[in-house]
Amino acid sequence: MTSTQELLLSRIRDVRDYPKPGVVFKDITPLLADPEAFTALTDALVELCVEHGATKIVGLEARGFILAAPVSVRAGIGFIPVRKAGKLPGATLSQAYDLEYGSAEIEVHAEDLSAGDRVMVIDDVLATGGTAEASLKLIRRAGAQVAGVAVLMELSFLDGRARLEQALQGAPLEALITI
Ligand code: PRP
Ligand code: MG
Repeated sequence: MTSTQELLLSRIRDVRDYPKPGVVFKDITPLLADPEAFTALTDALVELCVEHGATKIVGLEARGFILAAPVSVRAGIGFIPVRKAGKLPGATLSQAYDLEYGSAEIEVHAEDLSAGDRVMVIDDVLATGGTAEASLKLIRRAGAQVAGVAVLMELSFLDGRARLEQALQGAPLEALITI
């Protein structure tokens, strides 16, 4: 493990039985509150955006916004919010996806993405992969290319990587930490 990975991991707090019994919640608020760790995280994500030639960044509401916005500023490329349904005022593209119980829907402003864009999706956690998969479908439906998906943490026991494989179409899934 690199020193950056060690720093990031040391600032992620495990909260047992949250939000329900048996679940261990990965709380990133200690990392966000530590400027050294937050800067190291931002720098690592910027590096991935540069490496994979991203020209736009999509952040996934809500925790993905926190990570993606400073990356976008530092990388000097545009930030596009993918929001939970019903929050965007303009013409949107919507994508539904299955959750463990029930379903969810995310949206993007259609005018924010177009052919020629290479989009990096940024989020805090890849769990089942449902949210990230839906975002990739939105990006492709808008006619844009996928530069990759970059997350702080991949929860490998939930197999999100396998779920994402088809939607990635060969684009990289980068996880700074794999748990
Ligand atoms: C969490 C997390 C990821 C997503 C991962 O978001 O921040 O976005 O779940 O899960 P998946 O891989 O199984 O889709 P959530 O919608 O719970 O809350 P948030 O608004 O706090 O980001
Ligand atoms: Mg989220």
